[in-house]
Amino acid sequence: MLSDSMRAVYASAPTPDDPLSALVVGERPAPVVPDGWIRVDVRAVSLNHKDLWTLRGVGLDHDQYPRILGCEAAGLDPDGRRVLLYPLLNTPPGASDETLHLPAAQLSGARPGTLAEQFTAPGSSLLPIPDHLTWEEASCLICTWLPAYRMLFTKAQLRPGDTVLVQGAAGGLSTALIAIGAASGLRVWVTGRTPEKRALARRLGAANTFEHGTELPAPVDAVIDGVGKATWHHSLRSVRHGGTVVVAGATTGDVPPARLHRVYFHQINIVGSLSGTREEYQRLFTLMNTTGLRPLVDDALPLSEARAAFKRLSDGDVRGNLVITLP
Ligand SMILES: NC(=O)c1ccc[n+]([C@@H]2O[C@H](COP(=O)([O-])OP(=O)(O)OC[C@H]3O[C@@H](n4cnc5c(N)ncnc54)[C@H](OP(=O)(O)O)[C@@H]3O)[C@@H](O)[C@H]2O)c1
Repeated sequence: MLSDSMRAVYASAPTPDDPLSALVVGERPAPVVPDGWIRVDVRAVSLNHKDLWTLRGVGLDHDQYPRILGCEAAGLDPDGRRVLLYPLLNTPPGASDETLHLPAAQLSGARPGTLAEQFTAPGSSLLPIPDHLTWEEASCLICTWLPAYRMLFTKAQLRPGDTVLVQGAAGGLSTALIAIGAASGLRVWVTGRTPEKRALARRLGAANTFEHGTELPAPVDAVIDGVGKATWHHSLRSVRHGGTVVVAGATTGDVPPARLHRVYFHQINIVGSLSGTREEYQRLFTLMNTTGLRPLVDDALPLSEARAAFKRLSDGDVRGNLVITLP
């Protein structure tokens, strides 16, 4: 007999100045399963900055609260298969670029999230999990590893032997970029804020690491910059003529001035990147199976400790990914 409520982590209201004050671990109505959809029992959910924006009220109206958090999840479908949720629930598989629909359909945003005992989804939104991954590791694939794959190969179009600079060493996205890049034959250079984080990057496969702002030994083919204001000018200085800077995020804020003269004079390609397609996931899946790569999980905490986990994410105190597990 299914219960009509479930444990969940949710934002009770938008609180721009104190996001964690609106975080509740409590009961929410269990989701109704629409015709043709499937109920999945959640086993692990990794945390993402998007949830902090939802707690702050960014991009949501007041009447969309309470809003369940969680942008990705690994769980068991009714046939006992281990599955991941592809976040674009209603785009047809094979749509030309599914990710273009994401801003209007984000989990923990326009749609309720996954940080709960159950979620429902159409079967076409469920993706297979590489066998060698634990639940915790699998829960990191959609929001950091899939975007990292897209940034390196679809957006920057890197090839084995190319050099890429990753801004930031120890975060979820950076650790994915380093591990995937190194396993794919790229020369991965990394900036990191502390010796300990730079050492972590080298253990993950970085060929060289630098303090932030350091002049590099040679221009790089591409830079992946999810940091924003604190690293943007260094990214533009570091990329070769005709190279690519992928804008992956803006953790430290936006960037005045844009240095437009440098952009046109050196013919720098500046491209944004968001999430990834199902087809890119298939290629990542194959890469992971053939290399045995595993996402770096910093810590796995039970649902009841979600507030402590989000506090660490908000403080920037993470090595890889933080994960919430469910029994
Ligand atoms: N576009 C996409 O599809 C996509 C996907 C995932 C994430 N993102 C975005 O990418 C960003 C990183 O996400 P994440 O999950 O990796 O977050 P995270 O785990 O919190 O990591 C934050 C990263 O930012 C770096 N950083 C923070 N403050 C910095 C500063 N003042 N100066 C230099 N570096 C700084 C850190 O570098 P150190 O390691 O050196 O401390 C760390 O690598 C976020 O803005 C997120 O929204 C975008």
